[in-house]
Amino acid sequence: MGFDLRYGDFRLRPLTVADAAMTMAWRNQPSIRASMYTDHEIRLDEHTAWIGRATSNDTCSYHICEYRGRPIGSVGFYAIERRHGRGEWTFYIGEPDAVRGSGGAMLFMAADHFFDGLGLSKLCGDAISSNPRSARLHENLGFELEGVRLRHLRRGDEMLDVRLYALFADKWKSARQQQFSTLFSAR
Ligand SMILES: CC(C)(COP(=O)(O)OP(=O)(O)OC[C@H]1O[C@@H](n2cnc3c(N)ncnc32)[C@H](O)[C@@H]1OP(=O)(O)O)[C@@H](O)C(=O)NCCC(=O)NCCS
Repeated sequence: MGFDLRYGDFRLRPLTVADAAMTMAWRNQPSIRASMYTDHEIRLDEHTAWIGRATSNDTCSYHICEYRGRPIGSVGFYAIERRHGRGEWTFYIGEPDAVRGSGGAMLFMAADHFFDGLGLSKLCGDAISSNPRSARLHENLGFELEGVRLRHLRRGDEMLDVRLYALFADKWKSARQQQFSTLFSAR
């Protein structure tokens, strides 16, 4: 694909309570709300309470992605079940002018963190049928489609399907280098 992003320009750091206002503004954008299971507009007290829980619970691990030191988006793991070695992820790019391809780069780093940092072995991701970009991102990263939950989510008058994806540690280990070369330049 010949993308020209530098790996070293991206960094993941832990989400903190100090990120509340920024992440709430990101999360409340209509395009991001539409891609989430919870799509109402979130208030600051509700969001702050959620961050409090998200940063003090070992069944989840949330992160901010920075590009050249500027926060651009968030990726988090939740429903972590150490006993089964699995967890789910959720993510968005919050800054509308983030460099093209930031989503893929952020998820690359997040997958590394999930498998190597957290030592888990199965990463699950859901994509609502109205969000083909998310489905494509999962497929490009090597996720397998485990199934489709039909008419699973009500959005206005419509019932939407949800595509269930999974990526396994052994698959990531063997596909990672190729993914790296696709997403990042050698500079
Ligand atoms: C899904 C989301 C994270 C994708 O982020 P993004 O930065 O747009 O990510 P991508 O890496 O897919 O890049 C976008 C496009 O640029 C292309 N691209 C990727 N890297 C590129 C690069 N370095 N240079 C040029 N183009 C590039 C991709 O192929 C993609 O094209 P496509 O849309 O035709 O597939 C973002 O759109 C988002 O936050 N959406 C709302 C929230 C959401 O859907 N979350 C997922 C819930 S499951």
